[in-house]
Amino acid sequence: MTGRPLVGAGLKMFLGYAETIGYLRELAASAAEFDGVSVFVLPSFPVLAAARELLAGSPVRYGAQDAHWEESGAYTGCVSPAVLRELGCTFVEVGHAERRHLFGESDDMVARKALAAVRCGLEPIVCVGEEHETDGAAATIVGDQVAAVLAPLPSAADVVIAYEPVWAIGAETAADPERVAGVVAEVRRRTAGRDGDLRILYGGSVRPGEIAGLLAAGVDGVFVGRAATAVSGLREVVESVRAVA
Ligand code: PGA
Repeated sequence: MTGRPLVGAGLKMFLGYAETIGYLRELAASAAEFDGVSVFVLPSFPVLAAARELLAGSPVRYGAQDAHWEESGAYTGCVSPAVLRELGCTFVEVGHAERRHLFGESDDMVARKALAAVRCGLEPIVCVGEEHETDGAAATIVGDQVAAVLAPLPSAADVVIAYEPVWAIGAETAADPERVAGVVAEVRRRTAGRDGDLRILYGGSVRPGEIAGLLAAGVDGVFVGRAATAVSGLREVVESVRAVA
């Protein structure tokens, strides 16, 4: 790990509007406990304007769970990365496994979204991961995804790679640290020589008890779904990261 550990909460579509407002208020009030760890939250689109106010002056950063690959145009129902930037987002997640599976997003689409995000001044969180636990060549599969998505990006762009094995998302336990270490080494090998920052997160059934092992595997932090849908859960994750970082 280089620098401060990074912990992200991806809220997916788990919480209602009012619930998310309450979550963000509680998160802002908890920020003093996050010393030494960078924390971000990705709520659903309609909450982002409120996030800007609720997290103003807080070290907690926020972003969106997706964006389109164009800044404007006839794309009914889509959200422009330029609008996300106007709303004060730092990050935008692209290529989450649920978007790849449910909405047919390919590496090419994810690459275009990541590029549009960078052009708009956002840092893309690029989700990658092998499909099956039995996939023996996880490092190669993930390395190829990373290479495909980063190909069009300027070398100076800061990027977060979220290694999220598809089979470990919404599962019982996270991938084992040995597997994560192999993937991290391959991603670092494939991205050596880039000018921008490249941080690697692990995501997929992260629980506080597994954090020491995951960080020892070389990731820069963790990306959390269910365990972070209550601020108390996110605080426990951050506490575990602080304990080992
Ligand atoms: P999970 O989700 O922590 O609920 O497994 C992780 C993710 O999809 O990022």
